[in-house]
Amino acid sequence: MFFKNYLDEHKKLIESSIDSYLAELTYPEVIAEGMKYAILNGGKRLRPILLFMTLDILGKDKTKGIASGVGIEMIHSYSLVHDDLPALDNDDFRRGKLTTHKKFGEAEGILIGDALLTHAFYILTARNSHLAPEQIVEIVKLTSSYAGINGMIGGQMMDIASEGKRIDMETLKYIHSNKTGKLIKLPVEIGCIIGEATLEEKETLIKFSELIGLAFQIKDDILDIEGDFLTLGKPVGSDQELEKSTYPALIGLNESKELLKNTIEEAKSILVEKFGEEKSAILLKLADYIGNRNK
Ligand code: IPE
Ligand code: IPE
Ligand code: MG
Ligand code: MG
Ligand code: MG
Repeated sequence: MFFKNYLDEHKKLIESSIDSYLAELTYPEVIAEGMKYAILNGGKRLRPILLFMTLDILGKDKTKGIASGVGIEMIHSYSLVHDDLPALDNDDFRRGKLTTHKKFGEAEGILIGDALLTHAFYILTARNSHLAPEQIVEIVKLTSSYAGINGMIGGQMMDIASEGKRIDMETLKYIHSNKTGKLIKLPVEIGCIIGEATLEEKETLIKFSELIGLAFQIKDDILDIEGDFLTLGKPVGSDQELEKSTYPALIGLNESKELLKNTIEEAKSILVEKFGEEKSAILLKLADYIGNRNK
């Protein structure tokens, strides 16, 4: 119950901040409306929640992470808008609604995605004045790196390039750790910057985030096979249709489930070793949630 309340409470916190930051955008209407459409309603807000949990485990003030959490969620939402475009995964539903390009048109979808990406950097700089200038520079540097060629875009490119092919495990790991992993590692690393983590704390938290990031995408691949459209809010069977290189495609469904379980266990044990059971409690629950989620 405590965990569910934590998720609900922090989801509300981040969504009300997204609301208020976006309220000031009005013109052109289609871009302003499209940005709100693409980011509000339905997302799990896992990445901002991870930032809050990182600040919690470090014993630091959570409100200092709000603007960065919003910025990350904007970049994540843009990545979904573009991921669903006809030229990429060509999907019609996301978060239980029509995808942004289906709702507003393809050119508009591209521009709405671009606007979310760009506005994220406005938020990271304009709304973080409670942080030291050096911290803001570090956050912008990390975010631009993890969203681009050395992160999400790199992974997305290799995901597309690997359709219909039999790739090796090394390439699959590259795809997963970049297309999904980097935007999950990002809030944890930003939490370490804002929370002034020690080198040792940072190393442990980063390792933990890499493992849960991998687990998150393995589970996403599994849900594309076994998930339920209404619960997921996005199509199932999309990967198979495009002959995507996923964990189930490469090693099989049962082996993927085994790997998922082991990856979550490894993440949890690394965390407990450094922080102990009590301090780690909420992040341990989050790791289990990533392994067991059905949406
Ligand atoms: C979906 O991410 C895309 C992947 C990286 C697998 P989420 O499952 O976090 O999507 P939302 O934000 O909850 O809709
Ligand atoms: C997408 O991976 C990761 C992103 C960078 C958006 P998927 O293509 O598997 O995500 P879903 O299944 O469409 O949410
Ligand atoms: Mg994709
Ligand atoms: Mg997709
Ligand atoms: Mg998927």
